[in-house]
Parts: sequence; C-alpha cells; structure tokens
Amino acid sequence: MLRSHTCGALNGGNLGEKVILCGWVNSVRDHGGLTFFDLRDRYGITQVVCSPGGEGQELYEQVKALRNEWVIKVEGEVAARPAETVNGRIPTGEIEIRITGLTVLNKSGALPFEPAEADRIGENLKLKYRYIDIRNEKLQNNLRKRSLFCHSMREFLLSENFIETETPILTKSTPEGARDFIVPSRLNPGKFYALPQSPQLFKQLLMVGGLDRYFQIARCFRDEDLRADRQPEFTQMDIEMSFVEEEDVIGLAERLLKHSVGAVFGLDLSIPFPRMSYSDAMSLYGCDKPDTRIDITYRDLSDEIGRTDIKVLKAVLEKGGVVKGFHVPGGDRLSLKDIENLDRYIKEEGGGGLGWIRFKGEEIQSPLKKLLPAEVVGMLRPPVDPGNSILFFLAGKENWVNEKLNRVKEKVVGRIPGLIKTGVFNFLWITDFPLFEYNEEEGRLQAVHHPFTSPAVTDIKDLAGSPLKARSRAYDIVLNGNEIGGGSIRIHSRTLQEEIFRLIGLPEDVYRERFGFLLEALDYGAPPHGGIAFGLDRFMMIMLGEESIRETIAFPKTQKGTCPLTLAPGEVEKKLLRENRIQIDMPKVE
Ligand code: AMO
Repeated sequence: MLRSHTCGALNGGNLGEKVILCGWVNSVRDHGGLTFFDLRDRYGITQVVCSPGGEGQELYEQVKALRNEWVIKVEGEVAARPAETVNGRIPTGEIEIRITGLTVLNKSGALPFEPAEADRIGENLKLKYRYIDIRNEKLQNNLRKRSLFCHSMREFLLSENFIETETPILTKSTPEGARDFIVPSRLNPGKFYALPQSPQLFKQLLMVGGLDRYFQIARCFRDEDLRADRQPEFTQMDIEMSFVEEEDVIGLAERLLKHSVGAVFGLDLSIPFPRMSYSDAMSLYGCDKPDTRIDITYRDLSDEIGRTDIKVLKAVLEKGGVVKGFHVPGGDRLSLKDIENLDRYIKEEGGGGLGWIRFKGEEIQSPLKKLLPAEVVGMLRPPVDPGNSILFFLAGKENWVNEKLNRVKEKVVGRIPGLIKTGVFNFLWITDFPLFEYNEEEGRLQAVHHPFTSPAVTDIKDLAGSPLKARSRAYDIVLNGNEIGGGSIRIHSRTLQEEIFRLIGLPEDVYRERFGFLLEALDYGAPPHGGIAFGLDRFMMIMLGEESIRETIAFPKTQKGTCPLTLAPGEVEKKLLRENRIQIDMPKVE
C-alpha cells in the first residue's frame, strides 16, 4: 500500500504517529508563513501544514507549488491543531499533519470545473467529466449507499434460500411496454438479438427448471422517452418464487425492504404497508401511484353539478364525462392571481377552464356563485371545515380530468407550504389492477402489466366476453408517489397464456414465433409462480432525496440517451457494418 491511513481515519488518538496519506489536493492556503492544504480521498479530508525555513525550505517550496486536484503522497506526523482552529464538523478536525515528505504522484491540468461547483455546471459538461463529479461527497455517498443496499438485499435473500442467477443480455424481445434495443448478429446475418427489457421470461423458465427461489440484480434496457425517473438502461432487483400466491410475494418484499432500509438508512419501517385498490387510487388520486404524503383526495361532483343550472358542466356529464374536484385546505394562501394562472393553464391544455369556490366561514367566493343554489353550496363544503379552503374542479373525459387535476394539485402544493409531509417514506401497495386496457391508437387490447400476468381466478371465466372487466393478480409498490416496483402471479397454463395472446391481438403464428419457447415450457411441468421487480435506481433516488435517478447511477445517460463521456451512441466502421450486413439507409444528420 502507498499509504498507512486514509484521509478520514486520523484523530486525537493518533497524536505523534508518523503516517503516510495519499489523495487529492483540495485547497492550498498561505497563512502568513505557514502553508496549509487539505488532502481529500473517499474517506474524508485531512489538513496538512508546512512551515518555511531551514531544512524544510525546499519542501515548503514544493508545497506552495501544489495545485488543486494533484494526486500526492504525504508523509508526516500527526499533531494537535491549536484550539481555535479545531473543526468539530469533521472527524479529523482535531488534528493536522506536519509534513515531512511529499511525492507528486500525478499532476492535474486545469479542470473543466471544480468538483465542488458541479451543481452549477450544465448537465452535458458534468456528464462528460463524470469522474470529476464523482469526486464529490454527494455522489460518493449515493454510490456507497447503493452498494450497501445491494449487499443488504443479497444478504437477506440468500438467507431466505434464494439463488442468485444471471440471465442472458443477448436475447429475444421481452415485452414490458417499451421498444427493444437490438444488436445485429454477425454469425446469423439479417438477424438481431434484443437486449432484455427485464429478465421476465427467463425467471419464469427458472421456475419451470425447479430453482424455486431466484433473484438477480439485473440490468434492463428499454428504448423509451426518458424522464427524470427513467434511464434507457437501469437496474432491477428481480425476484421470482414458486408455489406462491400474492400474499407470499408481498410479504417477502415487505420483509426485504424492512431489512435493507433498516440496515442502510437506519429507518424502522412499519410493515405490512398499506394497500389501495387500483380503482380507489384512480378515483381518489387520479393515478395509480398516489403520493399519500399529500392529504388531498378527489371527489366526484356529478351529483352536485347535476342539481345546478350550469349548462356547460351538465353537458359534459350528459356526454359521459365527469366533474371531479378537490379541496385545498388553507386556500386563502392562494391569491386571485394564482387562481387565474391555474385557470389559464387549463385553458392552454384545451379545457374550458378551472372551476373554483372559495369557502371562508359562511361566505363563498366563486365566478359561479350566482348559479349555485344554497343546497349545492352546502353539499360542496369541505366535510371537515378547516376554516377556509378552496374547491377546485374540472369537467371532461375522466382520463383528462384526472391528469389535469393532478397537474393543478402539483402546482397548488408547490405554492402552499406544509401541504406535503416531509421526511416521511410512504410505501403503498396498489392491487386489483385491470388485466387489460384499450389501446385506441392500435385499436386493440393491451396488457396493463405484461401479458404473462395471471387474471384474477374469479375473472377467468369472463375473459372472452368482457375482457376489460377482468382484474389481474398484479401488484405495484409505490413510494411517495413513485412506482418503485411491480409484480404479479404469472400464468402457468399454456391454454390460458395462448388465450391472453389472442386477446391482445397476436395471431397464432406471431405468438408462436415470439413466445413458442415459453408456451412449450408451460407444457412441461410449470409450477404456479410469481414474483416482483424493484427499480433499484428509482428507489435509491427517493431514499437519497434526489430529483433524478442519474444521481444514483455512476455513468448515466442524458435525456437523449447519449453518453457525453464516451460519445455513445457512435457510428461504427464500415467494415463492421458490412460484416453485420447492415446498410445505413438514412441521410447523414449533421
Ligand atoms: P416493471 O416494468 O414494472 O416490471 O419494472 C419494475 C420497476 O422497474 C423500474 N423501471 C425503471 N427504472 C428506471 N428507468 C426505467 N426506464 C424503468 N422502467 C421501469 C420501475 C418499475 O416499477 N418484469 C416485471 C416485473 C415482474 O413482473 O416481476 C417488470 O419489469 O421502478
């Protein structure tokens, strides 16, 4: 080892020891004769001091020539800092190293940015020099916690008899709702592998193989539009179990999270987590991943509006639309200007406008006041009067109303401090999903989760007649309004699996070509099985209080799926294209 200690190790207990430290120069300060600098590594910062004169003069000159981010080796003696310079905020704050020897291991050029100013640097530049950003305490901490979390989950699952198994990366399409990334096969001209969107089919095959309990920290690849909580390649903690029902998988997942969140974040999660049906989530929160830290739920106002003469709203109801709204406690903290802005937003989004009624004691204020009979005003009051509140409401098609109410709620919560509980981690299961939804663009049914999800046992008989009514045996897990995982009990009967393929519009020749291997496996002794996968990056993002999953990934991609560091994706040599029988049939984009 080049060093005797790390830069976070020394304290008052080491006084007088001769030590060797290695690290990066953090900041050189000249203090009237004495020169100080900080030496930094992953473990911390240690102050080094050097005085001029006599035999030490040459060393002093060397120290003064040091520049930030040079990599050096320092030899010296641990000494107590003068009382007035003790830094109680860092573990090494009581001591400093009186330097006796210095080796420059590597100089650094002028950096594109200082690690400490990374927060103010544009995303592209920051990702181009990601290794400089990684020198920051924040990213180091995030990556360390991620590593500890994986370790802790592994430890738990191994102790529960799971077998960690890798599954192929060069494979066939595993549909999870995104486009595939494809890789040409040189040895099989004209043919392509698909990178796995998840290990779904392989983990099911492992159950057919009798592995019984499988897990994998699995890299997944999805070609989809990117957002703050999505990356084209991301990591799942992927789990599958045989001879289980929903409760077994949910129970295991809760114990796993309790164990690892406790071990890594020191939080004592209370399990079982609350549950909510999909239909309750949609009607109360307008989405399938409610953020229950915000104590605002939606109400259907069709009945109340039906009792008024507000023609535009009644017309929406007659056309099969809905009127839904929510009360904002403390609504007097929104000015008329705030409300106008929200109204303008709804109009820009194609709506007729945002309805609102302000309740203040017995008084109400609303542009619709004249059209609201006293009886209806009474019905619209908040059930528990918080003193003052505003009721916002929207009319239109249900999906549109839900989506826009969510945006309005988000904006209101952003304006009124205190509406969102902070410092809490609200885990929530969503259950009883529909099995299918209708894809209007393609004019066909599609699976809400993936097509290997089992229908609810009681709904199998109605599949052919009313497939949209069928519920599935899927469950999602939501944390503070983010979907952090999902799973289901799978189909283990070939007949049922084929029926599902047909219902989602796959002709027999297509599903046999794409999924024949799965159907065959279901014929050869497939046990009942089910599982779950957690989005590791997303989960870490929330636990670490980050706004983007990029902050939990060492080398993430930009919103356009590029890597400014390696310049991937890039062009390839003509020879490689020829070998793979690929011709680029596109004008070159400059
Ligand atoms: P699903 O598609 O719900 O299920 O994925 C599981 C979890 O993975 C995370 N996730 C993502 N994270 C970052 N970037 C992405 N592009 C991305 N896409 C998904 C989410 C999500 O909840 N095979 C099934 C699981 C199963 O049924 O066992 C599956 O992949 O947090």
